[in-house]
Amino acid sequence: TTNKIAVIAGDGIGKEVVPAAIECLERIAQLHAISLEFTHFDWGSDYYGEHGRMMPLDGLEQLAQHDAIFLGAVGSPEVPDAESLWGLLIPIRREFQQYINLRPVKTLDGVKSPLANKEPIDILIVRENNEGEYSEVGGRAYRGLPHETAVQETIFTRLGVSRAAHYAASLASSRKGHLTSATKSNGIIHTMPFWDEVVEETTRLYPDVTLTSELVDALAAHLVLKPWTFDVIVASNLLGDILSDLGSSVTGSIGVAPSANLNPEGDFPSLFEPVHGSAPDIAGKGLANPVGQIWSGAMMLQHLGHPAAAEHLELAFESVLREGLGTRDVGGPSSTSEFTAAVLAAIDVL
Ligand code: NAI
Ligand code: MG
Repeated sequence: TTNKIAVIAGDGIGKEVVPAAIECLERIAQLHAISLEFTHFDWGSDYYGEHGRMMPLDGLEQLAQHDAIFLGAVGSPEVPDAESLWGLLIPIRREFQQYINLRPVKTLDGVKSPLANKEPIDILIVRENNEGEYSEVGGRAYRGLPHETAVQETIFTRLGVSRAAHYAASLASSRKGHLTSATKSNGIIHTMPFWDEVVEETTRLYPDVTLTSELVDALAAHLVLKPWTFDVIVASNLLGDILSDLGSSVTGSIGVAPSANLNPEGDFPSLFEPVHGSAPDIAGKGLANPVGQIWSGAMMLQHLGHPAAAEHLELAFESVLREGLGTRDVGGPSSTSEFTAAVLAAIDVL
């Protein structure tokens, strides 16, 4: 069967790293006899400039025809960030019930961690991706007056929290069996105790998993001081967003970190994208590190049911990094296209 993939390269370096990753995916697909069909959509900030929106009105219907979505990054200095996020990424995540945002945090040979540790780091961060702190419930009143007020509600549902916890606990049970839940139930006294209860009830169904609830401020410090002691971390939408950016920075460049926005049941397409943004400061210069995008492509292959191809692709970019041929952000000598050519060569010999 053919895997139909919707491609949104988006803005800035998205236009450089997405074509690089697609070259690698096409080579891998050929070697593993996998049929991948890419359809390109020119949505993003340029589209916004012309049409006043990030994607067409029927954009979600067009995407729904595909098995997966492969996204670069969206965002540009000309478009307000809330517009680019709420006009494209958040509708995709919610409409397609991509309620898991999965971010591996792993040390790679050839990518120097800013921490002076020698212990390898291998963490999976599971961020709840559909509800929580990112809600439209709230409002502002008394604009400009001294008593001006803003209210933003957090929404946790039993379904939403328990399915994120199930996903995380089952991952932990297939790994080292340690699950850490990020909380702030000392200060946030309604939603966070509810989060804690539901995560605990859910994890009890996994007898081989030990759960530690950790206040997020302490957890953040722990993630910097002893990241190698974590296995799987589960967190709400906002806390998970912050922890996963922190996680990617403790292992080195943001340019290598991948992510998956998953609808685990497969009722809707899942979306795969690097953690980094459109990096307007380096766009168009051949400096972008394509590893985050390529690795996201490997996660996509895994999700589409091609684990051997996914592993082959990971081994290929890992071997090029290990040889010291990374891009400038990881201290290497390569341009985006030189690095990509080296990965293609590694795919052939591995
Ligand atoms: P950014 O991730 O684009 O850049 C942060 C820093 O990391 C910059 O110095 C950049 O040069 C560097 N960097 C990022 N990716 C790199 C790579 N692959 N190789 C080498 N260096 C890399 O974050 P920033 O600057 O906060 O945001 C820029 C734009 O991207 C904004 O409009 C923002 O809204 C958008 N953005 C979009 C995301 C998405 O599409 N999911 C995620 C994050 C930001
Ligand atoms: Mg972020």
